[in-house]
Amino acid sequence: MEKARIAVLVSGGGTNLQALIDAQNSGRLCSGEIKLVIANNADAYALTRAKTAGIATEIVLKKSCGSQEAFEEKIKKLLTTHRIDLIVLAGFMSILSENFTSAYPKRILNVHPSLIPAFCGAGFYGLRVHQEALAYGVKVTGATVHFVNEIPDGGEIIFQKAVEVQEGDTPEVLQKRVMEQAEWIILPAAVEKVSQSIVKGS
Ligand code: GAR
Repeated sequence: MEKARIAVLVSGGGTNLQALIDAQNSGRLCSGEIKLVIANNADAYALTRAKTAGIATEIVLKKSCGSQEAFEEKIKKLLTTHRIDLIVLAGFMSILSENFTSAYPKRILNVHPSLIPAFCGAGFYGLRVHQEALAYGVKVTGATVHFVNEIPDGGEIIFQKAVEVQEGDTPEVLQKRVMEQAEWIILPAAVEKVSQSIVKGS
């Protein structure tokens, strides 16, 4: 196999998707190629980023599917149609069931904006993670990229990077620092690492 075929699942702004597109353009991501972006939100700005980069997009809404099962079946179908090897959850704000995750062992990655096992699991997503970190008073936080299994944020860790909390941080300021100093670096690196192992067939 020449390159792993990657699908990125998104819900919002898509800055992590952008980091992957940039890594692809600069050659830091060279063992895999983003072939599809799936959003569970029609207004996700990530869709605009994908289109600008010439990547195929699909919108799958849980509401119109009627059930979690139908939602996941629709996503699976798209992944099969596009012959996807690697699924990247990049700000995808929907928990996937065991029925879905068990179909792709070690083939789903997620980026989470804390140092797992701190501030993670069901209910910890987006800005909320940084609010909780600040409320606890931690002095160091960061980001984690991990494989996805049936336990929310519980799969094997691939990369982590620490980021300092600074005096006077708001959740928004901390979120931006964690993205810039950690997420946008370790997500492309992890996607390259796993793509490489897929290409080599290991
Ligand atoms: C990122 O900080 C990502 O780590 C987080 O949501 C943000 C999405 O931003 N994901 C989670 O909290 C998942 N539990 P983006 O759409 O700009 O990439």
